[in-house]
Amino acid sequence: MKRRILITGATKGIGRSIAEELSSSHRVFIAGRDEKKLEELCKQINAHGFFSGNLLLDDNYKKLFEKASSSLGGVDVMINNAGEYIWSPVEKTSNDDIERLLKLNLEIPYKLSALAAKEMKAQRWGRIINIGSISGAVGEANASLYSASKAGLIGMTKALGLELAEYGITVNTINPGWVKTDLTEQALSDNLNEQEELDCIPQHRFIKPEEIAKLTAYLISDDAKGITGQSLNLCAGLSLG
Ligand SMILES: NC(=O)c1ccc[n+]([C@@H]2O[C@H](COP(=O)([O-])OP(=O)(O)OC[C@H]3O[C@@H](n4cnc5c(N)ncnc54)[C@H](OP(=O)(O)O)[C@@H]3O)[C@@H](O)[C@H]2O)c1
Repeated sequence: MKRRILITGATKGIGRSIAEELSSSHRVFIAGRDEKKLEELCKQINAHGFFSGNLLLDDNYKKLFEKASSSLGGVDVMINNAGEYIWSPVEKTSNDDIERLLKLNLEIPYKLSALAAKEMKAQRWGRIINIGSISGAVGEANASLYSASKAGLIGMTKALGLELAEYGITVNTINPGWVKTDLTEQALSDNLNEQEELDCIPQHRFIKPEEIAKLTAYLISDDAKGITGQSLNLCAGLSLG
C-alpha cells in the first residue's frame, strides 16, 4: 500500500537516501533548507512536493506540516531526520548551542510528531520514525549536548510508543553509528582522524545511508507492526564498546 510520507532533512545524506528508497513505492514529501537541491530531488524521485525553510525559525515546522499534509492529502508516516552534530567539550558549549541543538534535534521532532499523531490517531494507522544516534544510546565524550538531544528522542519514542499503541501507530528510533555525510566530514576534519575513528568501530567500516533507508522501509511496513517504542542501533557494533 502506498503511504504518504513526510521526511525532514532530505536534501542530502541519510534523509536523501531515505527519500530515494521510499519514493519508489510510496508518496513522499521532502523538506530541507536548500531550495535548489529540493527542487532537483523532487523532480528526480517524483516527490509530491517540498518545503524549504529553516526549522529553527518562526513557525516553519507548522507551515511544513500543513503544506505536506495538504500536498499528500494527509500524513501516514513522519520521518524526523533533520539534525545537527556538535563536537563540544561541556565547558565550551555555549547557551546558543544548547538552545539551537535541543530545538532542532528534539523540540522540532516532538512538535512534528504531535501534529502527525493527531492525524494518525484519527485514521488509526501511523508510523513515526526518528533518526537518533548511537551517541544518544551510549553517550559520546565531547558530544554531551548532541548525546543529550538524541537520548531525548529515545525517551520520547518509548513514551509515544506506549501512548499511541492502541491507535495502530508505531514509534521507533534508528540510532546510526558513523555514516559518511557532510555532518561527519565536518566533525572528522575539525576534530578527529578518520583512521582512528574506523579503528574504534568493531566492523571497521562506516554505515551506508542506504542501510538506514532500508531499515526505515521495513519499519514502516505492515510486517513491522509489532515493533514499537524501540531504538534500534545500526552502528557496525559501535554500541558494544
Ligand atoms: N552522519 C552520521 O554519522 C550520523 C550518525 C548518527 C546520527 N545521524 C543523524 O542523522 C540525521 C541526518 O544526518 P546526516 O549525516 O545525513 O546530515 P547532513 O548530511 O548534514 O544532512 C542534514 C540534513 O538536515 C537538514 N537541516 C539541518 N539543519 C536544518 C535546519 N535548521 N532546518 C531545516 N533543515 C535542516 C539539512 O538541510 P540543508 O542541506 O538544506 O541545509 C540536511 O538535509 C541527523 O539527525 C543526524 O544527527 C547522523
